[in-house]
Amino acid sequence: MKKVVLAYSGGLDTSCAIKWLQDKDYDVVAMIADVGQGEDFDAIKERALKTGASKVHVLNLQKEFVSDYVFPAIRANAMYENKYLLATALSRPLIAKHQVEIAHKEKATAVAHGCTGKGNDQVRFETTIRLLDPSLEHIAPVRVWEFKTRDEEIDYAKKHKIPVSVTKKSPYSIDINLYGRSIECGILEDPWAEPPEEIYHFTVSPEKAPDKPTYIEVDFKDGTPVSIDGKVYEPLALINKLNEVGGKNAVGRVDAIENRLVGIKSREIYENPAGLILYLAHQELESLVLDRETAHYKQLISPKYAQLIYNGLWETPLKKQLDAYINETQKNVTGTVRLKLYKGNCIVVGRKSKFSRYKLQLATYGSEDQFDQKMAEGFLKLWAMPYS
Ligand code: ARG
Repeated sequence: MKKVVLAYSGGLDTSCAIKWLQDKDYDVVAMIADVGQGEDFDAIKERALKTGASKVHVLNLQKEFVSDYVFPAIRANAMYENKYLLATALSRPLIAKHQVEIAHKEKATAVAHGCTGKGNDQVRFETTIRLLDPSLEHIAPVRVWEFKTRDEEIDYAKKHKIPVSVTKKSPYSIDINLYGRSIECGILEDPWAEPPEEIYHFTVSPEKAPDKPTYIEVDFKDGTPVSIDGKVYEPLALINKLNEVGGKNAVGRVDAIENRLVGIKSREIYENPAGLILYLAHQELESLVLDRETAHYKQLISPKYAQLIYNGLWETPLKKQLDAYINETQKNVTGTVRLKLYKGNCIVVGRKSKFSRYKLQLATYGSEDQFDQKMAEGFLKLWAMPYS
């Protein structure tokens, strides 16, 4: 009997997939990845076994997710199409990598996921896995099975006594991890419709946020955030803390029309309080410590890095090469950024670093001025020379 490792979420699609794969004569090993979606993993494991999985692996990947995926994206200032901080996209290569490891442990010859054929996530899973082990067979039940509608799928689940709760059906499709929430479908499919308040869980509305601003200070070491208000946090705890304080101040909501790799435009709402705070703070610190050429060049690299993440190309040579470049730029990105969180706004109000390139004696218009204004004369003659 052939063995398949299924990335299992516990929802209707992946539960039906267990049964469906068994009908195709596969021995199904389920893998549940805990990336901070805050679910009852014992119950999900139980469900997988009841549905027919021969074995279940539950992996807590939260720390690895923050240190090896989220923080590199922060160091890169990665943001897709000027809006999306890639919370969902970053989790996929991590889950896929572990899926390959489990496949090797279990001597499985195939892998499966519950993604549809219309989205980006199928690309991220399958591309990562193809790059790590090209010999594995890929199965995407949702792309090929016979159910035309969700109701048909529910009938199938009922017929096979698959224990899924589809009673309180949410109109939304939601992906959650410790770094952010992605919400689509339902009324959100109308790009003109304002997102209803009920979709948000990480953030309060600006109207409900405190009337007084909250100030925070974030310290970075070599481009990595290490403490908040002088207190050192483990990476995971740091993200949780910033989500909490940002969320309370309505920071991190994003409403985007984005271009999927498969060519479809889609409307997605994101909640990413910690991400937005860190993105703004990190960039600000870089503005203080990077020289002009590096700063400008890095601005060309960041969108490319984001695009690689978005398009499932985490395990490619270019991604590794850019990591080497980015790490080199981060050597002096050490210092502190002060931010003001207020009713949905995240405003940088101060920055300092022992590697600061800001020189008061050059910038000032006050009495400490040491800039020799006469130098400008010759410089300007040369600057205009090529055009005259
Ligand atoms: N559009 C985002 C991406 O491609 C999120 C995808 C998952 N979203 C969801 N609501 N299930 O990364």
